Amino acid sequence: MKTKFLDLGKQPIANAFLTPGKCEDEFFYDLEVGFDSDTCLVSHMNFVDPPLMFNDEYVYHTSSSQTMVDHFDMTSQIIKNRFREGSILEIGSNDGTFIRNFSPATSVAIEPCKNFAKITVEMGYATYPRFWDYDLVKEIVGRHERFDIIYSANCMCHIPNIEEAFNNVYYALADDGVFIFEDPSLLEMLERNSYDQIYDEHAHVFSVTSLRSLLNKANLEIFSIEKTPVHGGSNRVYVQKSGGPHPHDDSVELEIKHEVDNGVCKLKTYTDFASRVEKSKTQLLELLRDIKDGGNKIISYGATSKSTSVFNYCEIGPDLIDYITDTTPDKQGKLSPGVHIPVISPEEGFDDSVDYAFLGAWNYLEEITKKESKFLRRGGQFITHVPEVRVCRGETAPTT
Ligand code: TMP
Repeated sequence: MKTKFLDLGKQPIANAFLTPGKCEDEFFYDLEVGFDSDTCLVSHMNFVDPPLMFNDEYVYHTSSSQTMVDHFDMTSQIIKNRFREGSILEIGSNDGTFIRNFSPATSVAIEPCKNFAKITVEMGYATYPRFWDYDLVKEIVGRHERFDIIYSANCMCHIPNIEEAFNNVYYALADDGVFIFEDPSLLEMLERNSYDQIYDEHAHVFSVTSLRSLLNKANLEIFSIEKTPVHGGSNRVYVQKSGGPHPHDDSVELEIKHEVDNGVCKLKTYTDFASRVEKSKTQLLELLRDIKDGGNKIISYGATSKSTSVFNYCEIGPDLIDYITDTTPDKQGKLSPGVHIPVISPEEGFDDSVDYAFLGAWNYLEEITKKESKFLRRGGQFITHVPEVRVCRGETAPTT
């Protein structure tokens, strides 16, 4: 049974940046989050229809952050070292940052956003500009052999019908194949109070505990997990068909025990989290107002999905945040979803007039601190809400 524990209010599509003067008819939905006591899965109460989010106007480029480029290079190396290099299928290939590490001759990419699918086609990869559904899987399995490796990063958590998605993985996977996927960790979210992990695209926030239960229903089993620091703390999960050839290591049972000890299967954990989220909102608004009343200029660093979630939940608009800087050309010159804060390039906006920068991209702190040492040296300060609301200089802010 699914019980609602959190209400993040009316939210827009987190990556639907708006052209100034064309903001009418913006789509909003109620972002309510629930806990399913049968599987321990945390999900939206009502899912946003995927084509509203993943379409030809999608703007998030994986390669826009060096941290992610390095992460996918390293992940590819780990996969090549650990498993026999055969055929590979990537679900949610975005701009090809991961798949480019594998030969086009043995790789297939799936990407529903056609503007991104075009990129991997141009790189020489067989690419299906489609959602990961049964019709697609039937077609792929009819055309290619079943795959030795299926990989997916920050995509499984986007799929509302996760049970069907895992059934489809079973269907497309070779009998001795490996399914590797990574998504933000529920436990990390709870520990960091990073409620901005929840937005339209993140239909679910997975614990290993919930994944074991869901995967088992699809005749799949987890044989290993690894923690990765990206996206505010993620789990990389290694899966095979039940009874498959790969030995189980301790990591799975240890993590599940750790999660259960930390309450991932108890509703109270989530109602407590919801109280902390409400407190975080009050504190962030107070801090921003105090700083602004002191005559300071506050901007936001990184026009992220996370910051869309925070700004809309807390009702933070251009009265508090002058503008957002972001390196993604497709976001520049636009207005942020919902609260309509202008987005400009860092070259244009991250200058000596900035006193404080809210870390919309707090999960890239290391990269940002390195890049913005001049800002910190001249007395500029960051504001974050993770793990608690505070002003910080780079070195004392949360690490990725
Ligand atoms: P993400 O948190 O969803 O990965 O989005 C990161 C966004 O932040 C993306 O639009 C690029 C932007 N960004 C910057 O503008 N400057 C930076 O230094 C970094 C690391 C990211």
